[in-house]
Amino acid sequence: MTGAKTTADVQLTVGEQYLALETVQATAGNHGIVMAPLNAQTGMVALDPGFLNTAACTSKVTFIDGEAGVLRYRGYPIEQLAGESTFLEVAMLLIRGELPTRHELEAFEARIDKHMYLSDDFRQIFSVMPRRAHPMATLGAAVNMMAGFYPESLDPLDPAAINLATALLLAKMPTIISYIYRRAQGNALLYPQHGQSYIENFARMTFQLPGERFEVPEVFYRALDTLLILHADHEQNCSTSAVRMIGSARANLYMSVSGGVSALSGPLHGGANEAVLEMLSYIRDSGITPLDFMTRVKDKAGGLKLMGFGHRVYKSYDPRAAIVKQHADAVLEALGVRDELLDIAYEVEQVALSDDYFIERRLYPNVDFYTGIIYRAMGFPASMFTPLFALGRLPGWIAQWREMVADPSGKIGRPRQVYVGPGLRDYVPLAVRDPR
Ligand code: SDX
Repeated sequence: MTGAKTTADVQLTVGEQYLALETVQATAGNHGIVMAPLNAQTGMVALDPGFLNTAACTSKVTFIDGEAGVLRYRGYPIEQLAGESTFLEVAMLLIRGELPTRHELEAFEARIDKHMYLSDDFRQIFSVMPRRAHPMATLGAAVNMMAGFYPESLDPLDPAAINLATALLLAKMPTIISYIYRRAQGNALLYPQHGQSYIENFARMTFQLPGERFEVPEVFYRALDTLLILHADHEQNCSTSAVRMIGSARANLYMSVSGGVSALSGPLHGGANEAVLEMLSYIRDSGITPLDFMTRVKDKAGGLKLMGFGHRVYKSYDPRAAIVKQHADAVLEALGVRDELLDIAYEVEQVALSDDYFIERRLYPNVDFYTGIIYRAMGFPASMFTPLFALGRLPGWIAQWREMVADPSGKIGRPRQVYVGPGLRDYVPLAVRDPR
């Protein structure tokens, strides 16, 4: 565990016992109380379902200030990175901790370019996956299978293997996602072209139709690259925590990331961007007004949530949502797309931000609220939105996994519990329990 420890300046009294606990000073945000002595000295454990008050680790990768709506990757504000950087440069920043030199970035881009190709054996995976399978199911399976195809990059204690797995994942994930989409569309799988950029290759492999040139305005590539930057990391969110937990058992990077894909698929997490489009389409198609819909949300009818709203950490506007919203109009106009769902989204936001129910609960748009509108304008179906989130989040998963593996004080993740089940009792054989 890194971070400046302080002397015992937190006291905890448990019955007759008095614990002096150390703290770890944050460079920004919440300081941490080191709970290590708690169980050994009191026999008690800290109970914190959903980890609302519990830090699982110290980290230097990403910082969020939920009150101020601040997000920084390795200290750099998301607004500056989204406006001036590229996804692969941000990936290097997250993974290495510093912005690359021009030579370093060009060498990294060339390494990624070299590995975007998938062997014909690997491509067979997509032909056996059911067309109706949700893309996240296929994505998780394909990422897992990378452990089988690239055994030389598995050892989590070998820096060369970790660096190779890092490059292979970043290089092949866009190819895998494009193949998932093309399989669902019944189109042939294309090959990456050396010399095309990461984003150009991904877009072309995804959308190019047989016998046609693939041409889109530059704003398409810039918007897609920016969306990936916005999703690149986000502290210890559900999927990143899953990646860390799996990796703490010394599982390899591929199988750890596959667990992150699984966690991200949930509609309360990365699956929300798809759920937002379904929600907006429902409002449009059912003829109800956003106000009618919000009334149902406030009545908690069947646990109905306003998808794309609320956040465990942000209790103000998610800075990523603000950036996406700024881009939405410009991207749709540049792509020549009019989407009434965007108008409905604006109206939903206006109703929510002026309604006490949402204000009291500090519910604001999060990163998922507007992203689907832009993905849809680009031609992606809603089922592909969460795989796009996974592509964006990949550098963050990798950076956090590497940070965890490199921590010399790291331990396998094994939370405790508070048992509230039955006390000791003896087994009663069936013949006695329930005689014929
Ligand atoms: C992501 O953690 C990350 O960083 C995640 C993420 C990342 O980049 O990795 O930012 C990506 O997952 C964004 C979130 C996407 N999910 C959604 O948009 C789904 C809708 N949102 C909610 O399910 C919810 O807001 C969560 C899951 C995001 C956060 O839930 P919490 O922190 O556990 O909050 P909670 O469920 O305890 O809610 C507190 C109150 C409750 O009301 P009361 O019981 O007090 O009356 O707020 C209500 C909730 O019912 N509430 C909502 C709501 N979110 C919370 N009510 C209606 N609609 C919502 N969206």
